[in-house]
Amino acid sequence: MSVLPLAGTGKITVPGLLHRKTQTRNSEPAAKITCLTAYDYPTARLLDESGVDVLLVGDSLGMVVLGHHSTLPVTLDDMLRHTQAVRRGTQHALVVADMPYGSYHTDVAEALRNAVRFIKEAGAEAVKIEGGERRLELIVRLTEAEIPVMAHVGLTPQSVNALGGYRVQGKTTDTAEQLLRDARAVEAAGAFAVVLEAVPRELAAQITRELRIPTIGIGAGPDCDGQILVLHDMLGLTFDHTAKFTRQYANVGEIIRSAARDYCEDVRGGTFPSDAESYHAGPSAGLRKPVSAAK
Ligand code: KIV
Repeated sequence: MSVLPLAGTGKITVPGLLHRKTQTRNSEPAAKITCLTAYDYPTARLLDESGVDVLLVGDSLGMVVLGHHSTLPVTLDDMLRHTQAVRRGTQHALVVADMPYGSYHTDVAEALRNAVRFIKEAGAEAVKIEGGERRLELIVRLTEAEIPVMAHVGLTPQSVNALGGYRVQGKTTDTAEQLLRDARAVEAAGAFAVVLEAVPRELAAQITRELRIPTIGIGAGPDCDGQILVLHDMLGLTFDHTAKFTRQYANVGEIIRSAARDYCEDVRGGTFPSDAESYHAGPSAGLRKPVSAAK
């Protein structure tokens, strides 16, 4: 299960992830790629210390952190700020930044300038963009500029208006064929990995067999080379219905609620802070002990 590290540090790199795929294709055992979204310093540190391979600063930020109804309002500045925080908390994982809606949809030169900002100003090691065949030229230009690209096909949340909702993609022969073309196109253009979101397991398995780059599934079944989940979904930190592919590994929402209720009870009941949790004046200050501390 070897991964090509960066000078033996255990750092996850783009060539290391590609090497795992080569191993899989050669029927050698290679570990599945683990990815989670991260948006801030403390969670990035915790996930990195837990051995997650890839931290995606997803534009799902807009929904799970900023409270928007879709990812569309997320700005370049939002993404740069949060990528910087994740970068500061990460030592080993590969940090990938999602390019937000509008930051790569006008012209290629502007998209390139924006992508460069993620590398130079935010410390990302790769960017993710949504879309298949129609992103061919952009992926070529980004990879020529030494920016590794993670592609994203299937259900692409930035296309919610065009798709008419968040639905499973590739269920008919025509749409499955289009998805296959999209996956092949992003590989040919130079993407180093592709996210397959909300596609039938059988189609994801076929794409995974065909491609030389790793597939990272979310709602795409277990046959992909890796998996990604939105952190807040898997921690129970969201408020709406979650998709059937989300497995909730913890109920952090309930832990926060319970801690906040206990805190309010202690403050209202006068048991927080205690004397031991207070600073004390020295004898020379000539101050009297508060009545509650004298007890
Ligand atoms: O923004 C995001 O979190 C994503 C993942 C769901 C792949 O794009």
